[in-house]
Amino acid sequence: MIRMDQLIEKKRDGEALSESEIRYFIAGYTAGDIPDYQIAALLMAIYFRGMNRAETVNLTMAMAESGDMLDLSDICDYAVDKHSSGGVGDKTSLVALPAVASFGVPIAKMSGRGLGATGGTLDKLESISGFNVNLSEAEFRRIARDTGLVIGGQSKTLAPADGKIYALRDVTSTVASRPLIASSIMSKKLAAGSSGIVLDVKLGRGAFMKTLEEARALATTMAQIGVDAGRDVVALLSDVNQPLGAAVGNALEVAEAVKTLQGDGPADFHEHCVEVAAHMLRLAGQGERWTDLAAARAEVDRALRTGAGFKHLHQMVQAQGGDVAQIEDTRRLPQAKIRYSLRARQSGSVAAVFADRIAWATLTLGAGRRTKGDEIDHAVGIEAQVKVGDAVTAGDRLMTVHANDETSLQAALVEIGDAVAYSDSPVDPLPLFHGVIDGNEL
Ligand code: URA
Repeated sequence: MIRMDQLIEKKRDGEALSESEIRYFIAGYTAGDIPDYQIAALLMAIYFRGMNRAETVNLTMAMAESGDMLDLSDICDYAVDKHSSGGVGDKTSLVALPAVASFGVPIAKMSGRGLGATGGTLDKLESISGFNVNLSEAEFRRIARDTGLVIGGQSKTLAPADGKIYALRDVTSTVASRPLIASSIMSKKLAAGSSGIVLDVKLGRGAFMKTLEEARALATTMAQIGVDAGRDVVALLSDVNQPLGAAVGNALEVAEAVKTLQGDGPADFHEHCVEVAAHMLRLAGQGERWTDLAAARAEVDRALRTGAGFKHLHQMVQAQGGDVAQIEDTRRLPQAKIRYSLRARQSGSVAAVFADRIAWATLTLGAGRRTKGDEIDHAVGIEAQVKVGDAVTAGDRLMTVHANDETSLQAALVEIGDAVAYSDSPVDPLPLFHGVIDGNEL
């Protein structure tokens, strides 16, 4: 018989837990038979002692199987999904998913809400009046079949063990543990029914992982979990030391996504979406189609420039009850009352655009949540018009702040007062990507 106190002791002393021990505590905790304090002690032991590859995979599978495992085989033979670890200005799903769907690859995605600096994909989509993310499973499947693209909220029965454990980690300082983060993310991806997964692991000042080493280690662990669970996984390591694209804030990001789907987006964001979508297509092609990544990139680029991807976003918005007039003319999306231009104090090359400062300013404006129940203001945010490496002249516009009241505007201006750094000598632009990890090579 497995005893919880012995299991905690084992991990405390640095030993590896067996699959049956891991399944025991996940099943017991999900059912409410094991108290919070024992799981909290175990989580802290995992935090300090870590987990090996087999333990991490077993933990992920046990959490994935703690609820419903979505079966998408009636929608497509091979489902592809993407996951971003989150970064400032990251609205990639709104562009990459319609772009992939435009190639006849169905996308049925469950997304999350944001906690922290900016909203998640669901919050962004809810900038569109009437857009419904709370779909029943039958509706979710019907829209996926009819339009080839659906983005819904995560069902309550998806990896419930992760939901309980995440809440406990949040209040016991055990979030920042690589095996716990990787298993948490991957349990939801595996339960959501995808066969191929593109992980977009962000790094830098505007991301959870600050350094390349941390991001690479997390990406590697997640990719290992995926391949050991029989999935195809590719992880991209992407830079968000400065915001991705210009827009940060919900409706502003939807507007920028629409522009990008019409071939008119910011160059860095356009390229980022092309890369993510090309990798998704490559996985979906299963070695028979889109085998050449450069050719896949060129096809996605065309889908953006011709508006093929936009057509799919339009169909999805219509199918999910959203007001399509708002994406046909994005000036109809929620608009903030005040627009303030932040201007360059000096001339020179832009040496840094600190994404974390911009994120905090956006939160101050009301675009994100400080705690779970917070209402968000879809209209507010910041557009950062400069990138590292740009040459600016004193007085040039650096950013536009969209605020709904004078107090939050002033507070946001304090945050972004030093968000741009200058150099007298030329500065190289930042790379978009720092590497790619192919799960099959691990
Ligand atoms: N996102 C998740 O879903 N889980 C974590 O542990 C961290 C980020």
